[in-house]
Amino acid sequence: SCLRGQYECIYVQYLVLPTYKKSQQTSFYLASCQSADPKFALSGSNVSLRSSNLPKDYQRLGWFYNTDLKILEWYTNQPNPHYFETKFKDRVTLGHQDGALHIYNVQEEDSSTYILKVLLDNRIEEERRIPLKVLDPVPKPNITIEKTQEMNNRCYLILSCTARNQFVNYTWYGDSGRISEELQSGVLNITVIPQNYSKFYKCEVSNPVSHNSDTVYFISPCKLARSSGVAWIPVWLMVMVPTILGLLLI
Ligand SMILES: *[C@@H]1O[C@H](CO)[C@@H](O)[C@H](O)[C@H]1NC(C)=O
Ligand SMILES: *[C@@H]1O[C@H](CO)[C@@H](O)[C@H](O)[C@H]1NC(C)=O
Repeated sequence: SCLRGQYECIYVQYLVLPTYKKSQQTSFYLASCQSADPKFALSGSNVSLRSSNLPKDYQRLGWFYNTDLKILEWYTNQPNPHYFETKFKDRVTLGHQDGALHIYNVQEEDSSTYILKVLLDNRIEEERRIPLKVLDPVPKPNITIEKTQEMNNRCYLILSCTARNQFVNYTWYGDSGRISEELQSGVLNITVIPQNYSKFYKCEVSNPVSHNSDTVYFISPCKLARSSGVAWIPVWLMVMVPTILGLLLI
């Protein structure tokens, strides 16, 4: 069985069956699948789709967006492929050597399970399904302090991280790296004491093609650094460094 998105499948269609002449069937399918990394791409990038094991001598090759939409067709005895009137017309080229479909400036709506069909010797047509998922870069998330409660020298902290895109993974980082939470999610629920609190909590959101983050700073287990104070440091450096350099050069 073929799991969409994790396997590259080859469907072989035998168009004529010389050894089963009595059979009513004029064709049958054989499917074989091999694992393939799902192809993810950042919207706006250029993508090449190819089959890792294209047969050598084929007579015809066709790339399809789905079963209904044919992008291009190439008869190998012709110099050039024919590009059909589709939304891809001015954005695709065929790699003649490896049969790759090069797509420029991919967009989210280009996501699909593409189909590559090759006709081998007028009798055997092989079909490969190659899934592509185009993703937008993840937007900058926002950390909200849901709770800071100090009790017996301990601070109970709940921070939540929200990203406008819901299809993201969350990872929290602190002073000593990744914060191990059994389930990494948008909510960080921890207890800290003066010996182990972190001076910052960073929430990183990611999808397979991009990541983004937000950070909050603490000056004690339960006390947030004022955000204006954080913004103030670079301004101070920008003013002071040239001044000090200027003084040194005089
Ligand atoms: C995509 O390919 C085109 C044409 O070769 C090139 O001009 C463009 O810079 C490429 N874009 C990216 C994001 O690499
Ligand atoms: C900090 O130490 C306290 C007391 O040992 C413990 O309960 C808490 O889980 C620790 N917090 C972190 C984030 O390691």
